[in-house]
Amino acid sequence: MLEQIQQLEDSALAELAQVNDAPALEAWRVSYLGSKGKLKGAMAGLKDVPKADKPAVGQRMNSAKQSLETAFEEAKSRLASGGASPKGGVQIDVTEPALPMPMGKSHIITRVRNELCDVFGRMGFDVAAGDEVEDDEHNFVKLNIPNNHPAREPIDNFYVHEPGVDSVDAHFEAGGRPRMLRSQTSTVQIRVMEDAVAKGWGPPLKIVAPGRVYRPDTVDATHSFMFHQIEGLYIDRKVTMRDLKTTLFQFAKMYFGPDAKIRLRPSFFPFTEPSAEFDMKIRLNPAKPASWVELGGCGMVDPAVFESVGIDPEEWTGFAFGFGIERIAMGRYGIPDIRLLYEGDIRFLSQI
Ligand code: DAH
Repeated sequence: MLEQIQQLEDSALAELAQVNDAPALEAWRVSYLGSKGKLKGAMAGLKDVPKADKPAVGQRMNSAKQSLETAFEEAKSRLASGGASPKGGVQIDVTEPALPMPMGKSHIITRVRNELCDVFGRMGFDVAAGDEVEDDEHNFVKLNIPNNHPAREPIDNFYVHEPGVDSVDAHFEAGGRPRMLRSQTSTVQIRVMEDAVAKGWGPPLKIVAPGRVYRPDTVDATHSFMFHQIEGLYIDRKVTMRDLKTTLFQFAKMYFGPDAKIRLRPSFFPFTEPSAEFDMKIRLNPAKPASWVELGGCGMVDPAVFESVGIDPEEWTGFAFGFGIERIAMGRYGIPDIRLLYEGDIRFLSQI
């Protein structure tokens, strides 16, 4: 009798595993658990079991009934959740196309900055960095920008209200110089040269320094109160203007392609002598023809700058440059308005 019950249970469970829809499940229930079902039929046989075996057989029948009822409930919820897996659980169609998942990417300025470091890196430049809050010494004095120079006017810079003074104005009136948000990455030239001299690892020096700079300019299509520059500095024995020109021409061809049109125009910066402005023919506005755009300044490091950091100008010469990264990005990608770079509008950002 026990064996019979076992067989009944086994075949019931095997059949249930094949059940794939509600009508089949109901048919299975009627066939095994129904009032005229096989389990009831087996129970009727209990009366013929010898008295001594009755408790054991009765118990076994109950456990079989329980097992079939549990299996039935499980099969019911499996079918209700849409699954048809013989082992239960939800069945997933792995061939079904997935929902589109938009991919994020670095901001265009970050990417251009990295690309520029990469291009100059291939020409042997290391990457250096400096702080965005700087002092007067590094933003002006050691760059040979004298005290009365118009670039130092409080109105033309973001000076910091230092702790312990009443205001930025009071700080100036007391003859002091508050720190400032750097107005140019040329500060990093001074930092790197000072560091190299103090620690004895240069010159020679060959670095680029990308970073943010701040000027209280009125915002329009080509100006912002914060933008990015990349500074370059190369110091060695017998570096000449020819090295500077070659480096910049190579850079332009590598980054903008072999047809890049560039020119150097004589100019003036306090920290270089001679100095030049670096222009490139680019099309900022797709509706207009390409025109000359000033990407930045460059020149041979002024001996006064070398002296301010303790480098002997008789032994060492060098060139420096500083370009606007936004201008480069706008030229490279045909972006007509600098404000697009800061608004964070995903419709613009996702295009580039
Ligand atoms: N610092 C200058 C500016 O912000 C750009 C510049 C010009 C950097 C000449 C240089 C340089 O290194 O040699 O306008």
